[in-house]
Amino acid sequence: ATKGEMSIDPLRIVAKEMKFLTGNIRQLLGSGHPSLDRVAKYYTQAEGKHVRPLIVLLMSRATAICPKNELAPAHSTEGINASISPLNILADVNPSSPLTGFSSQPESTESDILPSQRRLAEITELIHTASLLHDDVVDHSISRRGSPSANYEFGNKMAVLAGDFLLGRASVALARLRNAEVIELLATVIANLVEGEFMQLKNTARDERNPKYSEDIFTYYLQKTYLKTASLISKSCRAAALLGRADVTTVEAAYTYGKNLGLAFQLVDDMLDYTRSAKDLGKPAGADLELGLATAPLLFAWKTNPELGSLVGRKFEQEGDVQRARELVLNSDGIEQTRALAEDYCQQAITALSTFPDSDAKDGLLEMATKTLKRQK
Ligand code: FPP
Ligand code: MG
Ligand code: MG
Repeated sequence: ATKGEMSIDPLRIVAKEMKFLTGNIRQLLGSGHPSLDRVAKYYTQAEGKHVRPLIVLLMSRATAICPKNELAPAHSTEGINASISPLNILADVNPSSPLTGFSSQPESTESDILPSQRRLAEITELIHTASLLHDDVVDHSISRRGSPSANYEFGNKMAVLAGDFLLGRASVALARLRNAEVIELLATVIANLVEGEFMQLKNTARDERNPKYSEDIFTYYLQKTYLKTASLISKSCRAAALLGRADVTTVEAAYTYGKNLGLAFQLVDDMLDYTRSAKDLGKPAGADLELGLATAPLLFAWKTNPELGSLVGRKFEQEGDVQRARELVLNSDGIEQTRALAEDYCQQAITALSTFPDSDAKDGLLEMATKTLKRQK
C-alpha cells in the first residue's frame, strides 16, 4: 500500500527551503569586523547535518494542513527581511563593503512554509552552532565536523565571543518574528542549554566518592539530556506550529514529537561515543569518559556492576580508569539497552504525529525518527 516506502528522503521534501539556509545564516552573521566575521561563520563552512532546521521546516509543512487556532494573532512578517546591521560599524567607514542585513528568502513562493518559519529554522541552527562553539571550549575539543574546532583554530577567547555573537544575532532575528510566545520559547532554550551543561559538569546531583546506582541518577541524566539536547528540538517544533497558527492539540503534538526525537537523538549520540571511531564521527570518540561523563551506556552497565561506582565517583581520573570503564560498558548490555531506550523514544515521537493528516512532510518527520536510530555519525 506504499508508494516508494524505500525512498523517503526528508531533505528532498524541503530541499528548496534548505537550499537557502546556509547563505541566509551567513548573512545573519555578517559583521564589520573581518576576524569576528571569520570565526562567527567558521562552523557554517563545513556542511553540518542541519538536523534542527530540517525538522523545523518539515514540521512547518506538516502542520500547515492541521486544524488552526482561529484566535491566534496573525503576526506581521514585515520586519523579518528588513535590512539592518547594528553592529556593522565599519560599513560607515567603508561604504563599498558588501555587508548588508537580513535578506534573501525568495519573497513570494507558493510554499506553505511561512517566511517566519524559515527564519525560525535559521535561528535554531544559529543557537545550536553557538552552543557548539562554547561546547568545544568546555570540552577542550580539537575537532568538529572533520576539521579543527574553532577553539583549536582561533583560541578559546575568540570561540566564546563568536558564540555570544551568534546568540546576539539569533536574538535580533527572533525579535523580528514579533511573536512573544516564540521569543520566550527560544530564549528558554538558551537558558536550558546552559542548565543542561551545568548538570553535566556535576554529573550527579551530589558529589560522592563511591556512589551507588539508583534510579534517581538515571532520572538526573534524562533531565540533563532534555535540557542539553531535546529542549531546542522540542521547543522549536512547538514554535514552528505556533507560527503557523496551529491549534493547541497540534502544538502539543509537535512539542511531544520534538521532545522524544531529541531524547532519542542524544541517546544515540551517547551510544556512538562508545561504538564509533573519531574518523567516523568527525570529532573525538570516547570523549565522554575522558571528560568524566557517565552517559546512558555506562549507567545501564553500572546497574548490574557496582564496581563502576568508584570509577564514576572519581570521574575516571585515575590511570587506567577510562579503559576499565570502557571495557565494563562494552562487556555489558549497556549499549543494547541504550539503543532500546532510544527506540522507545522514537516510537513515542512517531505516535505523537498520529493525529496529523497524511502528507509528504509528515512522512519526512516519521523518517527522521527512523533515521535517528540508524545514524552512524
Ligand atoms: C554538545 O554536546 C553540546 C550541546 C548540545 C550544548 C552545550 C551547551 C553549552 C556549552 C552551554 C552554552 C550554550 C549556548 C547556547 C551558548 P556534546 O559535547 O555531548 O556533543 P559533541 O560530541 O558534539 O561535542
Ligand atoms: Mg562536546
Ligand atoms: Mg559537551
